[in-house]
Amino acid sequence: MTKILARVVADGDAVSSAAADVIEELIDSRPAAVLALPTGRTPIALYRELVRRFRAGKTDWSAARAFNLDEWVGVSPDAVSSYAWFMADHLFSHVNIRPENCFIPNGMAVDLDAECLAYEKAIESVGGIDLAVLGLGRNGHIGFNEPGTSFDTRTHVGTVAEDTRRSNAYTFADGAPPDHAITVGISTIMKARRILLVVTGADKAAILETALVGPIDKSVPASILQRHDDVLVVADVAAASRLPAQIRAG
Ligand code: GLP
Repeated sequence: MTKILARVVADGDAVSSAAADVIEELIDSRPAAVLALPTGRTPIALYRELVRRFRAGKTDWSAARAFNLDEWVGVSPDAVSSYAWFMADHLFSHVNIRPENCFIPNGMAVDLDAECLAYEKAIESVGGIDLAVLGLGRNGHIGFNEPGTSFDTRTHVGTVAEDTRRSNAYTFADGAPPDHAITVGISTIMKARRILLVVTGADKAAILETALVGPIDKSVPASILQRHDDVLVVADVAAASRLPAQIRAG
């Protein structure tokens, strides 16, 4: 049986607030904390809440380091569809994190393998990730580690699944996301000292159940989280509706 506990709260706002508490407490206790951060629809409200708290004078990001989980291959950081743009737009440009402490893989790199290696080394050189904040893809992906990805992967170029491309199409003017992305690997994520999985909405209920209580199998990348010693899941009632009572922390 999984060791994971899920904190189940009323709705998306409560998820954002609970997740922001975890991030705020970490940065308060360890100002130079190393975070891994996700993109997608789910963390938008979380970033809004973190910005609100920063403006209220609550969190000092001046020493924090942030590594994005992923970036599209072939998309310039200046393009609105890039994750670099997303992070600046939703978080980095609104808090006092230093630009040199914001790390995002360069999807335009000529040598993508060298870029992946350098990104992995950059994570290692700051002592690894203290807290990896993750969203959950509808097919169980984490970062851009799609079903079938080996659990041994470090930062690498992955093929983006068709259904993932469809659910991200809205972020591209032509509705056509690239079919490759650089992603922090599953083993890189598993080395994080703590993992915070943030999940909202009824459409994630089935995959959240499969990930947390189903077999640990590379067909569901998030299922590997069952092997991590310190995972906190924060989910709203809709996303948690299929979770067994014993893993709900309330
Ligand atoms: C994208 C990102 C993931 C994210 C996932 C879920 O594909 N690469 O890191 O967790 O989608 O996104 P959403 O929150 O929009 O459901």
